[in-house]
Amino acid sequence: MKGLILSGGYGTRLRPITYSQQKQLIPVANKPILFYAIEDVIEAGVKEIGIIVGPNKEQVIETVKSENWDVDAGAEIEFIYQGEPKGLAHTILVAEDFLDDEFVMYLGDNILREGIVEHAKKFKGNNYDASIMLTEVENPQQFGVADINEDGTIKRLVEKPKVPPGNLALVGIYFFKPVILEACKHIKPSWRNELEITDAIQWLIDNGYEVGWTKVQGWWKDTGKPEDILEANRLILDDIKTKNEGTAESSKIIGRAIIEKGVEIKNSIVKGPSLIGCDCMIRNSYIGPYTSIGKECIIEDTEIEDSIVMEKSEIIGGGRIIESLIGKEVKIKRKSDLPNGRKLIVGDHSEIVG
Ligand code: TTP
Repeated sequence: MKGLILSGGYGTRLRPITYSQQKQLIPVANKPILFYAIEDVIEAGVKEIGIIVGPNKEQVIETVKSENWDVDAGAEIEFIYQGEPKGLAHTILVAEDFLDDEFVMYLGDNILREGIVEHAKKFKGNNYDASIMLTEVENPQQFGVADINEDGTIKRLVEKPKVPPGNLALVGIYFFKPVILEACKHIKPSWRNELEITDAIQWLIDNGYEVGWTKVQGWWKDTGKPEDILEANRLILDDIKTKNEGTAESSKIIGRAIIEKGVEIKNSIVKGPSLIGCDCMIRNSYIGPYTSIGKECIIEDTEIEDSIVMEKSEIIGGGRIIESLIGKEVKIKRKSDLPNGRKLIVGDHSEIVG
């Protein structure tokens, strides 16, 4: 089986961060979201992976190449340029030459706790033409939803239904035989002018192809919006094990925390689950639960919790910061007292000085 991982798209809902960073490279627990997808695909035994790239393609290629995927797992990665993001089904057409075998298509901004090994086995075992993954959601109106017949087969897929036929939503991971190319060639762009993958799957159903489904057991997160990124960060941090390779002076580390090499903590409290990347300096501060701090950051005279701070940022006298997404190389420096509990979404290289 091959793997097609999508790392294109504009990520408009994550601006300003996505003005300079491709969405799938945003770190969750200090690791690009895209890496979780690559790991899952490799874990399912896939050796040939095609990554769809679009805007910011150089960043994606450089970041993926900075890891030793080949050495670790014998996987080969190639990059396929989509150009304009014209929809999920459009990426399949763009990758036509690569997709000469059955494949898993994995949206590079999705994170799934349990991986895809079992789902891939069921797809192969049942000889389906396609297989989708479904998960129970509380608000099916906001998702693509599957309408299931009494015998368990899929009747139809509906995008964001006002009156949902059930609560099983589509997860952004799909298994296909190459016949999906046929489907993608037959469908027309939707009202938002995109070739929709749900339309292509519906085409398979309507034309008598076998489309199976499996149910996701653990959590699944589509990281389209800032609050989703923070939620994914919480979910990943919930599973970390304590590791401390830094130094702490007159400080307290409470609960599970990962403190990487070269971190210096002085007169501070770190409360887990939290993660502090290499060579950070934490002084006179409180790092609260569900916080991930990227490498080489400086945090001084600040209380921060439930937040992501990306690499090489400096927050000095930041007051109390919660539920925030702070880009790379950001500088926040305040001398005066600030009101408590600010929520920030700050793009890369910004400066907030008071
Ligand atoms: P979306 O989240 O639907 O789109 P987007 O990433 O452009 O974000 P926004 O709606 O905020 O502007 O895309 C789902 C995934 O598929 C995501 O990982 C990006 C990827 N994608 C492509 O690679 N090519 C495309 O043409 C589209 C639409 C998405």
